[in-house]
Amino acid sequence: MSGEYPVYHAGRALGIDALAPTAGQQVLDIGCGTGLNFPLLQERIGAAGTIVGIDRSAGMLRQALRRAEARGWQNVILIQADMVLLDPRSTAARIQASGGSAVSDAALATYSLSLMGDWQQAWTNTTGLLATHARVGVVDMQDPEGRARWLTPLARLACALGGSDITAAHWRAVEERCVDVVRASARGGHLQIRAGKMMHDG
Ligand SMILES: C[S@@+](CC[C@H](N)C(=O)[O-])C[C@H]1O[C@@H](n2cnc3c(N)ncnc32)[C@H](O)[C@@H]1O
Repeated sequence: MSGEYPVYHAGRALGIDALAPTAGQQVLDIGCGTGLNFPLLQERIGAAGTIVGIDRSAGMLRQALRRAEARGWQNVILIQADMVLLDPRSTAARIQASGGSAVSDAALATYSLSLMGDWQQAWTNTTGLLATHARVGVVDMQDPEGRARWLTPLARLACALGGSDITAAHWRAVEERCVDVVRASARGGHLQIRAGKMMHDG
């Protein structure tokens, strides 16, 4: 859990449980940051699986690479790209050139869609990298609910300082385009978790 604010670890763990990737699968980690999802993903996919971490920040990817090297993981592919702007076909080719598959079995976005501006485009680009009926998961933030409502100003301030838009309910990406949707929340509703299986567009 190194480098992790404990408050956010709960959402990450619930998100990966809901995504439920299995041994040998290739999982996209969208806006992977320093790779905080990698240990939990590795427990699920094992050495035969692959993590493809995509992030626009070279600095974040350097830390993710250090994490992978320190743990001796040979199955991590890191791609520097802006999810809003990338072309899925050429990105798939980059993944293949790094030893991965052109299509991934699953995709996860933890606390990253809320930073992406045109997050719908980022999500469309994500789905362009996925197999039909792939599983997808989103973990992101909203105002706390119920008895935790008094924490709202604090949560809003923390998110504003980090540049996150917490008003957009980014997990709609899963609600609107998936079946068998698993829903969870944590930290008084501040963390929202959704995962499901992509509907076939045809
Ligand atoms: C708050 S961090 C979360 C990192 C990681 N998913 C986690 O759960 O720890 C958000 C990450 O999204 C990345 N990001 C933001 N906008 C992006 C974009 N348009 N394309 C790719 N990555 C982006 C940032 O560089 C950052 O590493």
